[in-house]
Order: sequence, then structure tokens, then C-alpha cells
Amino acid sequence: MARILTGIQSSGKPHLGNVLGAILPAIELSEQKDNESYFFIADMHSLTTIKDGETRKSNVYEIAAAWLAFGFDTDKNVFYRQSDIPQVTELTWYLNCFTPYPMLANAHSFKDKSDRLSDVNAGLFDYPVLMAADILLYDANLVPVGKDQQQHLEMTRDMAGAVNHQTNQELLVVPEAYIQPHVMTIPGTDGQKMSKSYGNTLDLFAPKNQLKKQVMSIVTDSTPLEEPKNPDTCNVFAIYSLVADEHSIAEMRKNYEAGGYGYGHAKKDLLNLLLEKFEEPRTRFDHYMANPHLIDEELAKGAAKAKPVANEVLSRLRKALGFAAN
Ligand code: ADP
Ligand code: TRP
Repeated sequence: MARILTGIQSSGKPHLGNVLGAILPAIELSEQKDNESYFFIADMHSLTTIKDGETRKSNVYEIAAAWLAFGFDTDKNVFYRQSDIPQVTELTWYLNCFTPYPMLANAHSFKDKSDRLSDVNAGLFDYPVLMAADILLYDANLVPVGKDQQQHLEMTRDMAGAVNHQTNQELLVVPEAYIQPHVMTIPGTDGQKMSKSYGNTLDLFAPKNQLKKQVMSIVTDSTPLEEPKNPDTCNVFAIYSLVADEHSIAEMRKNYEAGGYGYGHAKKDLLNLLLEKFEEPRTRFDHYMANPHLIDEELAKGAAKAKPVANEVLSRLRKALGFAAN
């Protein structure tokens, strides 16, 4: 049995790119018979950039509600909030002392962030060690991540290897990255990669009017309504094709090529498709957000399952390193 583990950053309501690129593929993976998935909300990592407690709390709820809305099975799997198992910070310290300083100084993501952000704090520098602790604390075998996280996974493997080698014991499981090559990049309303940082998202869980506004803002060319249009260069069609079934895609293609079908029509069809296809998850999301105690219960259930595993791994380490085992 493979133990799959991944962390989800808590940064507000997920958009269509997050849903198609991360949430749905991860849930699919978790449904395979022999897998057990540990999915957690990385709220401690968010402290590197977000300092406001209320913002952090509401981000955690929105992300949790989205995963639950898509039916992530929290009985079979473990769904928890990183900060509910503070043992992860203890492991971070141990790993820090096995991590060569230049390895962190050369991390792409640190270099990138320290160029962009005005607040370059030590937490940002240590980010990969906390991430390694997230993984190693639960003996994870497989870690699904985007390509941008590959270096962090290599560092995690190095840290686990260093602990095992220097203690001469197999204390930590060395995990594998699982990078899904076929996961597509979903374009945003301006045709670039959809991303919160570009302000070009379709917020699948936003109220209907707001989602409508976003769909209507998708950039198109100025071909007049009566004229035939090329679906293959149109962003509305591109997004529609990622969600619709084959028959509807063929139909929309025909409409484009026939003329008399404007971009306004296409956008309306896209909006209706999104509302229809995601009606259930949207309703469930609203239900969770209106009843946050349901989310608290789910996260408490996850923490209760995660904690003993974390304690077991930590006590292995404490013993080997000469600290009091508890
Ligand atoms: P954002 O760029 O909006 O801040 P994140 O970096 O928080 O999104 O991404 C969260 C997850 O969603 C990651 O696994 C990432 O690979 C996936 N993801 C984000 N945007 C897209 C996109 N446009 N297409 C496919 N997957 C995406
Ligand atoms: N750093 C990851 C990201 O930016 C989130 C994350 C934190 C993570 N801890 C993790 C991912 C552990 C996988 C495993 O997306």
C-alpha cells in the first residue's frame, strides 16, 4: 500500500485551474484501492507571507470546503490542518540540523521569492525544511506535486538520506515525487496560465453574478457576430473544451464555424456549463461555509488520525538522537 501525501497552500477560494489541475486529479488518485492519502492544509507555511490571523482562518475554511465539496473521502483518508499537529515544528528543527546551509540558499523558490517580496524572513528561507518535515513526519511514500515543487522534493530526499546515513539507521522513509505529466495548464480569462497572482481566474465557488462577470471578461478578438470564427484561437472555446463533453464541444465548434454565433453567446454557454456541471460542489461548498463547525469536525477527525503516526515517527528520531523519548 502506498501512502500518498500532499500539502495544499491555504490561499483563498480555489479557481478552475486549481480544481482541474490539482483537486480533481488528487481525489482521483486517492480513490485507487490500495492508496491511503494524507492531504493537509499548509497553514503554517502561509505565515511566511500572511500575517493576519482572520485571513488565514478564512482561507483554511475555503480550501477545506472546496476539497470536501468535491467529495474527498475523509473516512478512508486523512484530511487535516498542518498546525493541528505542531510536532511538525519539532521535526523541522531536527532536519534543520542535518541540512547544509548552501542547499537552502540555492533553492529556486527562495531566490525567486526573495527577489519579489519585500518581507524576506527566515521562515521563507526555511520553507523547504518545514515542507520536508510535513512529508517525513508521516512516512509518506509518494508526494504528488506540481513541477515547481520538484526541487523541494529532492531536498526532502536529501534530508531523509542525511538523517539515515548519519545515524546509521533507517529512521525516515525516503519519498518519491509524483509529478503528473498529463495535468494540463488551464488558461485564465486573458489566455495566460490561470493564477490568483495574475487576477485572471474563474472562481468556481463565487456567487453566480461574480462568476458571470469573470466569464464575460474573457478576452476575445473583435470578429463581428455574423462572421464565422476560429474556435482554435479562442480562449472561451479553450476553457469550454476542458469542461464539456465531446458532443457539446463539437456543437460549439460547429456554431463558431457557421457564423451568427457571437462571443457573447459562447460565454453564456460556458457560464451555463460551469453552473450546471459544478452545481453540486457549489451547493456543498456553500453548505460547509455556512456551517464551519462541520469543517472543524472533519479537521479534528483528521488530526486525531494523523497525530499518533507523527508521534511514532518522532519517538523513533528522539531515541536515535539521544533526546528523552515520550
Ligand atoms: P495560484 O497560481 O492561483 O496561486 P497555486 O500556485 O496555489 O495557484 O496552485 C495550487 C495548485 O493548483 C497547484 O497544484 C497547481 O499546480 C494547480 N494549478 C494552479 N493554477 C493552475 C492552472 N492554471 N492550471 C492547472 N493547474 C493549476
Ligand atoms: N509547498 C507546496 C506548494 O507550494 C505546499 C506544501 C507544503 C506541500 N508542504 C507540502 C506539498 C508537503 C507537498 C508536500 O504547493
